[in-house]
Amino acid sequence: MRDYVFYRNFKQSYPIVERGEGIYVYDKDGKRYIDGCCGALVSNLGHGIEEVADAICKQVRKIAFAHLSMLVSEPAIELASLIKELAPGDLNYTWFVSGGSEAVESAVKLARQYFLERDRNNTSKYKIIGRWNSFHGNTLGALAIGGHIPRRKPYIPMLMEFPHISTHYCYRCPYNLEYPRCNVRCAFELEEVIKREGPQYVAAFIAEPVVGATVGALVPPPEYWPIVREICNKYDVLLIADEVMTGFGRTGENFAVNHWNVTPDMIVLGKGMAAGYSPLAGVIVSEKIVDTIKKGSGRFIHGHTYGGNPLSCATGVAVIKYIIKHNLIENVKKVGLILGELLKKELCEVPIVGEVRGIGLMWGIELVKDKETKLPFPREKNVSSVVFNALLEKGLLVYPGSGAADGINGDHFMVAPPFILQSEEAKEIVSILKETLVEVSKVLLN
Ligand SMILES: Cc1ncc(COP(=O)(O)O)c(C=O)c1O
Repeated sequence: MRDYVFYRNFKQSYPIVERGEGIYVYDKDGKRYIDGCCGALVSNLGHGIEEVADAICKQVRKIAFAHLSMLVSEPAIELASLIKELAPGDLNYTWFVSGGSEAVESAVKLARQYFLERDRNNTSKYKIIGRWNSFHGNTLGALAIGGHIPRRKPYIPMLMEFPHISTHYCYRCPYNLEYPRCNVRCAFELEEVIKREGPQYVAAFIAEPVVGATVGALVPPPEYWPIVREICNKYDVLLIADEVMTGFGRTGENFAVNHWNVTPDMIVLGKGMAAGYSPLAGVIVSEKIVDTIKKGSGRFIHGHTYGGNPLSCATGVAVIKYIIKHNLIENVKKVGLILGELLKKELCEVPIVGEVRGIGLMWGIELVKDKETKLPFPREKNVSSVVFNALLEKGLLVYPGSGAADGINGDHFMVAPPFILQSEEAKEIVSILKETLVEVSKVLLN
């Protein structure tokens, strides 16, 4: 039968998935794969969770749809309350959308509207500062703010010009410095850029607390987020944490910013929010911003049709309740430590492994041609794809990426299994990784 799916890559063949159970997915020929990356850090609970399926069935029988401009559903109200309880500080309100890019667009538009309302339209603040080696989504606004060169390159003429600062990529420090003697130089770049652009024009700074897709589980030095919070306060710039990948427990805390006791002005949500069972994303917004809108025009001039739809919200409620009931974030911490230790111990000797880094159940493995000089493989070798395919063959799914080293070259992949992972399963994942990477090393370095 001819297949009319417009694939992400027509030069790749994709197994047809049939079903999933726990940390495993099965294709239609019965082959079993360990879901070692939850799709793209999405299906955080694993597959086939009855409680979530029941909640979805119950809700879908009640109503087809309710547009949030006319009606609000009980699941939307309940979900917002649950999120308020999990979020730090005065992050009390949730704006609902369907995907991470929509959520990022919402956050940056809200930053602009906040200043318009607060300063009675007398504001010049509109610029959003992002970071190189970051990803905030593929819509044009989110792509402009993000800093992943291969994803941006074809669309550059269509992107708004926003400033970017370097990321805390310690393995390849943009300043050629070493932590802690660097005094977190990269965090202070934010202040320089705000001053250069003019604080009167800068509305917000957006960053992923642990960088995901573009570099692979890059954890900042502990001082980083407190420093950028202080700089944002000093220059009246909103701080937006993009927790599309890290939110709802992935790093071993409800939100990754909790590791550093920092409360941003907004947290962007997605992916794990409904753990893959339904499209759901959002923005948690501070009381300060919501109050300003309430006292001003009363309405955010923005919105998407499926935002706050009852089915996705009921799914989100079921997912959060499941995480709490089964104490899954504790498991992320516990098994995450085991997985991290194993990855470091077993992979450090593999000739093409440059660095193993991460936190919780979010681990990145950077691949290099030369361990000593950190020289990346040339792009045309497609090393992250080669590794992905070799692991797929062996029944392990990981999340590959490229371009981090210099915008073109550089290969890495992420290991980010479901929160229900047990230590024996962590061992199995690492054993497959080691065997495969040793084999691939031999071929690539030959
Ligand atoms: C940090 C981050 N923000 C935003 C997005 C965009 O989310 P979506 O693909 O749901 O639009 C992603 C997707 O990978 C992401 O990792």
